[in-house]
Order: sequence, then structure tokens, then C-alpha cells
Amino acid sequence: MERSIIRLLTCGSVDDGKSTLIGRLLVETDSIPHDTIDSTRNIRRSGSTIAAGEIDFSLLTDGLEAEREQGITIDVAYRSMSLLDGKRLIISDAPGHEQYTRNMAVAASRADIALVLVDATKGVRTQTLRHLTICSLMGISRVIVAINKLDAMEYSQSVFEEIRSHVQTALTRMHLDDVLFIPLSALAGDNVVQGSTHMNWYRGQTLLESIQEWRPAELADASPRMRIQLISRADNFRGVSGTVHRGSFTVGDEIKIFPSNQAAKIAKIITYKEEIQTAHDSDAVTLLLEPEVDATRGDLIAAASEELHPSDRFNAEIVWLHEDPLIHSRSYLLIAGTSQTPATVTRIRHKIDVNTGSQNPASNLGVNEIGSVEIATDAPLTLLPYLQSREFGNFILVDRLTFRTVGAGMIRHSLRRGENVVLQKYEVNKSARAVQKNQRAQVIWLTGLSGSGKSTIANGVEKRLHALGMHAYVLDGDNLRMGLNSDLGFTPEDRAENVRRISEVAKVLVDAGLIVLVAVISPFETDRQRAKSLFDEGEFLEVFVDTPVEVCVDRDPKGLYKKANKGEIPNFTGIGQGYETPKNPDLHLKGDADLDENVTKVLGVII
Ligand code: ADX
Repeated sequence: MERSIIRLLTCGSVDDGKSTLIGRLLVETDSIPHDTIDSTRNIRRSGSTIAAGEIDFSLLTDGLEAEREQGITIDVAYRSMSLLDGKRLIISDAPGHEQYTRNMAVAASRADIALVLVDATKGVRTQTLRHLTICSLMGISRVIVAINKLDAMEYSQSVFEEIRSHVQTALTRMHLDDVLFIPLSALAGDNVVQGSTHMNWYRGQTLLESIQEWRPAELADASPRMRIQLISRADNFRGVSGTVHRGSFTVGDEIKIFPSNQAAKIAKIITYKEEIQTAHDSDAVTLLLEPEVDATRGDLIAAASEELHPSDRFNAEIVWLHEDPLIHSRSYLLIAGTSQTPATVTRIRHKIDVNTGSQNPASNLGVNEIGSVEIATDAPLTLLPYLQSREFGNFILVDRLTFRTVGAGMIRHSLRRGENVVLQKYEVNKSARAVQKNQRAQVIWLTGLSGSGKSTIANGVEKRLHALGMHAYVLDGDNLRMGLNSDLGFTPEDRAENVRRISEVAKVLVDAGLIVLVAVISPFETDRQRAKSLFDEGEFLEVFVDTPVEVCVDRDPKGLYKKANKGEIPNFTGIGQGYETPKNPDLHLKGDADLDENVTKVLGVII
């Protein structure tokens, strides 16, 4: 199969000579205007050893790098050039610093070839192995390991071989089967576009040749698929729009929509300008279906003969990209193509040591760490194993509050157990149960520091409700930790799980028609938001019991602040671990105010 565009990702840092290499590639393929090239003959950076009048190739590409380092512009820079055979090469350049792995992972999911630079004067670095690991996870078709700066090592074959064998040892544990090693000097121009006269021991291709002769692998699986991007509606018209991936769709084809598994026939295919009979790979089209089935953005359309299994449990590999670690049991947004679904990492199976390839047990993943995890999504998704489909097998995780990308993931396979659980509908429902009790079922979620007075207020509220003949129940953090949550401690991930379980129990009790008073520190905003998202509009009220920490320390009902101050409870809320103040509580109580007054305020929002 021919392709008119090849996507190349360059990995490495400025020091490895990456800018010089790309600069030379662009100049020697005539991709840069001559006056721009000339301008680099007279400018010199401090310390430059390049003779006056010569081209400093790195200046042609470094401008962007410098801007990026100051955080001014883009994450990944793209440049494009024509190859000798008329194809276009799109070069994406992911900066080398560790904190930029985010950009590299995302760029790698789209690239065909990765160019991994190794500075021969320094040898293989951890960053090199991390880049290779990400390339492997991201299913890059070809990796070119460019061993650069050999001019500074007397073009030594043994230096080249030593680096090659180091990288090859690491490769044995990765899934990369097309890896080329090229000895080169970007500075002197050996083996970039021109072959080298200094390394007669090397008979392989130049960098340019190895890019040009790459061909995509023949696809074993060419079934057509389309992810719905948009539901297009007009007066007498309702269509589903998206881009066809692989294969083709023709008018009259029987299709299925996933995850709902509804069948339909393609009645019409429309492009932005005309009606067509057949839509091919990469065509952006609108399909009119017969009958007009229910579909939403993010759904997948496939041939009716395809056996796809939507699931809400997955095994996946994740590259963690944020300074705050991945917390299992915390809810993130999982974005795959056009679909967005809340998802929780339910288990971290292990993390991978990129230096040794060993799998180590882990309870969280720090920035740049790679791990194997289990994920539960709030709704079923049609995701495919990444090694089978890059388009439908990758996803990103986004923080629910800041919308920052925090992780990039690849589906390994779906776990089928979620598929066999079916929601049972009962005829007596939540509202019938609440009406019988003459009340509105709801959750009053009291959050605040230990000793802030949550339990005392909850107790006061329950007494008053009880006296009024209403049906309430208190879920108390301490009490539940003696039974249901006795396996949990106070790490951020255990607190997330604590809040998750309590919110699920509260949901059951609300379904039973009760007024549920929750008294739990719940120190993290995102965990409280997740709890809230389980409930209908107006059913969940967040009450912030705002008591100054000095007052809590003074009260110290359980003597815990004293212990924490002596260092005996390292992660005590407010001392060794933070408390995130609620941003928009439904009720804000001053915890040092009169108890009756606070109880009355809470009753005011309930009744
Ligand atoms: S939460 O943070 O996970 O929401 P929860 O409300 O269930 O906490 O439990 C808090 C109670 O556990 C406190 O009132 C205190 O009695 C006890 N506790 C023991 N260790 C800690 C700790 N490190 N941080 C906070 N509370 C602790």
C-alpha cells in the first residue's frame, strides 16, 4: 500500500544534536529557502565551534525549541518537507526534557516512524529507553536509532556497536520489530542525506533512505469503522457524521452501532458537496441510516458482521504524564476519539522499570512512569486492543477539574466480566419510597477537617429529623472504617476509595428513600465531585464545615492532633496532608459557631 504522507516523530534533546540533524535534513533536501539558510552563516551562538561562513544547521530549527522552553508556544512543533519521490514527510518534534513526555506520547500515537537520537559521546540514557518504551506501547511501525556525533568519537565502529548492543538488549522486552541503527554525524553530514566516507565499516542506508523506503504494513484487518463525531439534524434529515477508518461503506450495507448494538442499513452517503455510493478510508461523510436508530457522539459504526464487544472494564497500559501521581480509585475523564466517559483506575497491576524492563508492584504512578492498570468506565465503550487498532485502542485520561491531560493509555484487552451484569428495574422506585416516607430523598455531605464538628452536626440534624418523624441515616467516616472500610488507610488513594464506597452506599440509601447525612473528611475536591456526580440534580448538597485548624487542634476530641504533631500520624489531614477547601459548597458553616444554629441551617436546606 502506498501512502502520500509519512509521519516522523523525533525524540531526543537539543544536546543530542537533534536540531542540527533536522536542520541538515531540511537543507540537503532543499526544503528551506536559500536566504534563510544564508542567514545562519553569520549568526553564532556563544561557544559555537562552527567556522564563520558555514551553516549552523541547528539555528534553522532551534527558534521553536527556545520558545517552547520558555513555555510560550506549542507543545509539539511540526515541520513538513517533500521527499524525493514526491511524498510529504511531516516531522513532529517532541522536546527532549522529561517533563514533556506528555507531548511525545500523544505525538507518538500518530507517528509512523520514530527517530530516536543517541549522543555517541554520552551513550544510552534513561530518557532514550523511556522514549523507546513509549514508541513500543504506541505501536510505532519503524524506529530509527540514530547514533549521532560519531565524528567526535573518531567514527569508531566499536562505539557504535556498543551503543547498538545496549539498545538491542532493551529492545528484547519491547514490541518493536522494525528497528534500524544508523551511525551518523549531523554536524559533519555523514549518513544523513549523503552517505559517509568516514565509516567504510557501515554499508546500510542513510537516514533519508531509511525514511523514504518505509511502507505501511499490509492490514490484515480491513473492516470499515467510523466513530460518530456529530449527529447532523435538519428538518427531514438525521444523519451520523464522521471519518471512515479502513475499508469502505457502501449504500445498502448492513451496519451496527456500538455500544448499543443496534442494526441498520446505510440509506445514503453524503459528503460536504455531494451524494456518493461508497465512502473510502479517511473520507469524511454523513451516513443516513434506515431505520433512524438512536446514536450519540462517540458511538462506533461497524459492519453488521463484526463481533465487537463493548465493555466497561479494561486492561491497559498507561504513561502517566502529570506531576501529581495517578491515584487508583479516583475518577478521571477517559477520552477516546470523540467519546468522553468518567473512568476509574481500579487497580495498578505493576509499573515498568524502563531501565531493566522489570515489573514492580506499585500503588501509584508518578510522572513519566509507565504501568499496567485495570480501568472501569461509567458507561460501556467500544475500544479495541491497541495492537489491533491504533485508532480505537488509545485514550487519554483528563483531570475532571482542571481538564489537563494526565495520562496516555493503550488498551490491552477488555475484561468481559462487566458485560454480563444487567441493571434490574424494580417497580417500586426511589420516588415511591420517598413519597411513602413523606420526604425528599437526598444526601447532605458534610466535609471538613477532623475535629471540625461534622459528626456532632450530623448527630444534631438526625435527632431533629427523627423528632419530626422523618427517616434519616448518618454515614460516619470513623464508624464505616470499623467495618466496610476497615481495609483502608489514609493515603490519597485509600481516601479516594473510602469516599467512593461511602458515596455508593449513600446512593443505595437515597434509592431507599432516605435522607442521608454523610460525615467524612473527604479532603479532595475531585473525589467529592465524583461523589456528587452519582446523584440527580439537587439530590446532593455539599456542606462545608469550616473550622479553623487551630480550633480543631484545640478541641482535639480524639487526641489525634497531639499525636500528629509529635510525628506519630504522618499523613494527618491538615498537618502532613492537605485539605482542599470546597469551591462552591451548597452550604458554608462556620464550625466554631453555635451548634444549634448550624443544625438549623442544615435543616433549612433539607426541608
Ligand atoms: S477521609 O479522609 O477518608 O474522608 P474519614 O472521614 O473516613 O477520612 O476518617 C477520618 C477519621 O479517621 C478522623 O476523624 C480520625 O478519627 C481518623 N484518622 C486516623 N488517621 C487519620 C489521618 N491520617 N487523617 C485523618 N483522619 C485520621
